Amino acid sequence: MAAASGPLAHARDPRACRSGGSDVTNSASALHLDSARQGAAGTSRYHEVYAGWQKDPLAFWGEAAEAIDWYEKPKAVFDPDAGAYGRWFVGGVCNTCYNAVDRHVLSGRATQPAVIYDSPVTGTKRTLTYGDLLQEVRTLAAILRDFGVGKGDRVILYMPMVPEALIGMLACARIGAIHSVVFGGFAAKELATRIDDAKPKVILTASCGVEGNRVIAYKPLLDAAITFASEKPSACLVLQRPQAQAELIPGRDHDWETLRATALKSGRVAECVQVAATDPLYILYTSGTTGKPKGVVRDNGGHMVALKWTMKNLYGVDPGEVYWAASDVGWVVGHSYIVYAPLLHGCTTILYEGKPIGTPDAGAFWRVIAEHKCVTMFTAPTAFRAIKKEDPDAKLLAQYDLSMLRALFLAGERADPDTVMWAERILGLPVIDHWWQTETAWAIAGNPIGLGRLPVKPGSPTVAMPGYDVRIVDEGCHELPANKMGSIVVKLPLPPSCLPTLWQQDDRFKESYLTEYPGYYKTADAGFKDEDGYLYIMGRTDDIINVAGHRLSTGGMEEVLASHPNVAECAVIGIKDELKGEVPCGFVVLKSGVDKKPSDIEAEIVKLVRDKIGPVAAFKIAICVNRLPKTRSGKILRGTMKKIADHDPWTMPATIDDPSALDEIDAALKDHGLAG
Ligand code: COA
Ligand code: AMP
Repeated sequence: MAAASGPLAHARDPRACRSGGSDVTNSASALHLDSARQGAAGTSRYHEVYAGWQKDPLAFWGEAAEAIDWYEKPKAVFDPDAGAYGRWFVGGVCNTCYNAVDRHVLSGRATQPAVIYDSPVTGTKRTLTYGDLLQEVRTLAAILRDFGVGKGDRVILYMPMVPEALIGMLACARIGAIHSVVFGGFAAKELATRIDDAKPKVILTASCGVEGNRVIAYKPLLDAAITFASEKPSACLVLQRPQAQAELIPGRDHDWETLRATALKSGRVAECVQVAATDPLYILYTSGTTGKPKGVVRDNGGHMVALKWTMKNLYGVDPGEVYWAASDVGWVVGHSYIVYAPLLHGCTTILYEGKPIGTPDAGAFWRVIAEHKCVTMFTAPTAFRAIKKEDPDAKLLAQYDLSMLRALFLAGERADPDTVMWAERILGLPVIDHWWQTETAWAIAGNPIGLGRLPVKPGSPTVAMPGYDVRIVDEGCHELPANKMGSIVVKLPLPPSCLPTLWQQDDRFKESYLTEYPGYYKTADAGFKDEDGYLYIMGRTDDIINVAGHRLSTGGMEEVLASHPNVAECAVIGIKDELKGEVPCGFVVLKSGVDKKPSDIEAEIVKLVRDKIGPVAAFKIAICVNRLPKTRSGKILRGTMKKIADHDPWTMPATIDDPSALDEIDAALKDHGLAG
């Protein structure tokens, strides 16, 4: 494989560093590391591997690409002149579905379980071997092709956690169609926005999802979304689940199972289509700083290379082993680590339709691990906070044999040291926090247990992964010294699998990520690096909040609040929550002359957010106030409001216009039982 001439070398030129930013009391790194948390210090190959990548990134990724089957090998590992910051594996021709399914069947894994569907909410379990998976995927691919779906066409999936969701994604990949999965917890309006942006030819859906003990009909939401949307799909395939039957609209809606049975009977299948490594595999919408979500684009080649590399080197998992990511296919964690990475690696993946608690109890995770012999588990810290709250002494653990489990990985939000230490204590295993984003699809920082575990420092997701040159900078883009808090940026180019652009919004991509810190990717996270290069991710620099590991925009919520006819102005902040990490809290100032009861308006606003964004927003607190605290230039003091709500120390901002407005926020929060 040839390397493009000198693309990466100059990208790592050291920049002049100037000190600035705020000091950080690095209490976490000062904590005594007990032996359970010590890694294979001295034996980890991490530093050697990271240095190897730094020295020759093209050789590093070129070698990683050897683990993928290509129809045509890339002409260049990296082309610095393509795309916004260069493109990976240019000239390569491949198929992601082939690498995730077909090649394992061809290499003797046909009878190995590929997917174990475990659904305590419906009382169903189903195992699909790699042979079964191939059969299902190539059949659905043929059905999609019958509906005119081909290379480059978009297919939206609005599906619960059932095998057909994963089969649908792989079927799209097989024929070169671009899938876009929309999480089931989003409301019709949000789905409509995504339909209008992606313009799908076909939508795959199911009659319902099952949330705990509630059946949530999906089809009425889809019907409403299609009504709202200006772009109409030509067909919808509906998986009828026994828990609810959906009404089908003649001409547009088709019964999934009938189509499947007919195709199976006639033996119609679609084989893999050759796509360019740089062709999009999927679009995944994620919250931006406005109500309009960002369509993160993922390519085929770079995505496969990076994800395959992580399975052994980061997660320490071998082909044939059972890997479980307890997330949802609607999120990036689900895309990467329920679907693609484990299958690319020839593992068995678990598709769990349930919750950490209540389905039926706080021992649900232990049951799944023991029953399916998972060697690694990956979830969001919030799931462990839920288990800890319900079963603080982990008494339910005693019923299960977890001897196969080697590590627990956490991501999606900051892993608070209390939860990490609790999980470590009850499991007696390494608990690995790792930091990443929808934009990257894999960890920017982590503790690569496959290379030999590094000592864990509670509160830190450990160190930058090969591929990522992570810097902490001040507002002027000057690098900050150790333990100084600043903006976290990644020196360009980003490694394989990171987004090359936003769907049909190249300018928004550049504006959002590449413009503010020239030569760097802006993560929009703030934090610091300690003297050992350990990273600490402390929060977002934009309006994004993380609610139960779900990424949400407070700006998007403010747009909804502002659309209420009685609201003059509003502010939404994320406030601390013991279970979900953060929850949104909205303040509204009513238009003059409104004579409705504030509590009625508050209830209407809560309902409005649920209807327009969805239950996933977990927006349950709306508070009417007479005015919002602002600076003299009119900027709402959201940061100070948050400190008050979180009971954190705060000082009166010097630029405040009317100090009594903050007292009013404090009083209103107290009225709602929220401020101390
Ligand atoms: N379809 C429809 N509704 C959904 C949904 C889906 N796929 N997923 C969530 N919702 C609904 C929930 O039912 C809930 O509705 P409610 O307000 O009527 O109760 C709302 O959206 C908020 O959901 P969630 O934030 O998940 O809260 P929860 O109380 O149902 O569960 C946890 C809390 C912590 C148990 C759960 O969030 C969890 O298991 N999280 C960890 C794993 C994870 O999903 N991580 C994501 C990224 S890795
Ligand atoms: P998402 O795109 O939904 O994966 O959310 C990405 C954001 O979640 C990041 O920008 C961080 O703010 C936060 N996040 C994810 N993982 C971690 C982590 N391990 N520690 C701290 N924050 C995290």
